[in-house]
Amino acid sequence: MKVLVTGATGFLGGYVIKELLGRGYEVRAFGRNQELGQALIKEGVDFVSGDFTKEAEIMAACQGMDAVVHAGALSTIWGPWSDFYQANVYGTQLVLKACMEHGIKRLVYISSPSIYAAAKDQLGIKETDAPQENNLNNYIKSKLMAERLIKNCPQIPSIVLRPRGLFGIGDNSILPRVLAMSQRLGLPLLKGGQQLMDMTCVENVALAIALALEAKDEAVGQIYNITNGEPRTFKSLLDELLDGLGQEKRYLRLPAGLIGFFASSLEGFYRLFQLKKEPPLTRYSYYLLRYSQTLDISKAQEDLGYEPRMSLSEGIENYVKHYRES
Ligand SMILES: NC(=O)c1ccc[n+]([C@@H]2O[C@H](COP(=O)([O-])OP(=O)(O)OC[C@H]3O[C@@H](n4cnc5c(N)ncnc54)[C@H](OP(=O)(O)O)[C@@H]3O)[C@@H](O)[C@H]2O)c1
Repeated sequence: MKVLVTGATGFLGGYVIKELLGRGYEVRAFGRNQELGQALIKEGVDFVSGDFTKEAEIMAACQGMDAVVHAGALSTIWGPWSDFYQANVYGTQLVLKACMEHGIKRLVYISSPSIYAAAKDQLGIKETDAPQENNLNNYIKSKLMAERLIKNCPQIPSIVLRPRGLFGIGDNSILPRVLAMSQRLGLPLLKGGQQLMDMTCVENVALAIALALEAKDEAVGQIYNITNGEPRTFKSLLDELLDGLGQEKRYLRLPAGLIGFFASSLEGFYRLFQLKKEPPLTRYSYYLLRYSQTLDISKAQEDLGYEPRMSLSEGIENYVKHYRES
């Protein structure tokens, strides 16, 4: 089977390529970053340079493919709506169009559980608990709109995955931010860091994507939560990481209410003055720090046969080893 992977030059994309090649797929990697593309070519990967918001480029990339993994996105929590719309909504629309044009037999779309974000503790969230609208930030809004586009296009046999909190070697978002903050200021703990959270080793997400490509037709049209299935308190995860790295644990125990107020005010200020830079604290980050959020993955286990192959502790150990060596 020939599979086009968008976002191939990104964090998750690299792991997807490795997983699919290991399973004997013919993979075509798609992305804009020429330098990373060249590195993929050197590893023997078929890399096509392109932008999925340009119709001709995504059309050409889909030619001759059997399946598409659409993992490319503007994946950050701050920025103007026009950027998120262009990359995540319009881009997905063009991917769907290209899939139709080339008779793609399976599309796996990578969405995000950030769409569940709310100012409350939520344990064991099911896929059907997703809200119709969530305008907490433009990323979330765009991911919900993209999911709707997929749902409204039954001509393409699609499966949507919502993997939560990806981490692993090469992560350029979650762990580097945590470590930078730990070294600069200390890590904020609200409610003692006792909120429960679900994280996912990036290797397990790549596995879930391969399983979605291989799943029976009954899974088509379905949405699946993906995590490691090991809910842990925020503090216990930080303790394990910092102990592994041999770094001092500098926690800042902060009053939740005040931090919530501060996050809303900061966002308001940045919006009012149309500041491009991400505020040091957003309402979304505050929700992550304040509220428990765990996902029910039983549907992916039952329908896709998904069982995480790497535990959180193994993932943290690998990350620590790599961090110490580099
Ligand atoms: N990281 C997480 O914790 C997390 C959690 C839930 C869901 N997700 C989802 O998982 C997917 C992968 O995330 P990630 O962490 O791997 O993000 P990432 O490292 O930022 O990778 C995203 C990739 O998308 C590509 N891309 C963006 N716009 C493009 C365009 N117009 N045309 C072509 N390529 C474009 C970029 O490639 P170039 O740089 O080459 O342009 C980038 O490498 C995303 O859909 C994200 O929303 C991530």
